[in-house]
Amino acid sequence: MRPKIAAGNWKMNGTAAALTELHSLATGLPDNPPQIVICPPSTLLFRATDATHGSPIQIGAQDCHAEEAGAYTGDISATMVADSGASHVILGHSERRDAHRETDADVQAKAIAAWGAGLTAIICIGESEAERDAGQTLDIIGAQLDGSLPDAVEAGNTVIAYEPIWAIGTGKVPSIAQIKEVHDFIRARLIDRFGAEIGNALPLLYGGSVKAANAVEIFAVENVDGALVGGASLKAEDFAPIVTALAQS
Ligand code: PGA
Repeated sequence: MRPKIAAGNWKMNGTAAALTELHSLATGLPDNPPQIVICPPSTLLFRATDATHGSPIQIGAQDCHAEEAGAYTGDISATMVADSGASHVILGHSERRDAHRETDADVQAKAIAAWGAGLTAIICIGESEAERDAGQTLDIIGAQLDGSLPDAVEAGNTVIAYEPIWAIGTGKVPSIAQIKEVHDFIRARLIDRFGAEIGNALPLLYGGSVKAANAVEIFAVENVDGALVGGASLKAEDFAPIVTALAQS
């Protein structure tokens, strides 16, 4: 049985006032909630873990550096993320691969650092619109998986998020058949590389314009174990129905 996970990526949104959203979310949870991981900006990590103490909501960072400490102005290490009380870290989001030129090798090194600090890595992969149009989606996804995942992947230390770049923040969502095709492909690739036990145990999230209106349909897809949600995770009133849809899936 794989865990169901509703993850929220706040990106560069939210000051202290946004912590009230965590309280609202925590008070409106369904029975048997899935795992919930909210990833606020790093300035809010300590306060967010405080604010969710005793609730089922877990906190994650949006990135970490591969080194434990040193002269890396502006970066935070996995140890610092763990020190905040966070349990997860998003790695290799397409916005970081794009704007910060992060490579698969960088993502892999960060995952090893994350594990070393006791964090679960949420590793993101996804094709661009041009790559999809050129029929390269599965090749790109396969190469990103091979390059971004360290060999020491274990069931409890990694979550994979498939996020087609063209679906992020655009309101465009792949068809259910397209989501199923990629998730089935990822599952088979994971089993091939890590064996059936680990390959079947790794949760696969879909991300890209998930909202309450499409969540039920997406969560019904085999091999979709949850979602990584951007815009619709900022407000509890938008995220709560997605959490409920996952709980009931
Ligand atoms: P979105 O973002 O839900 O706003 O499309 C998803 C993401 O970037 O993780």
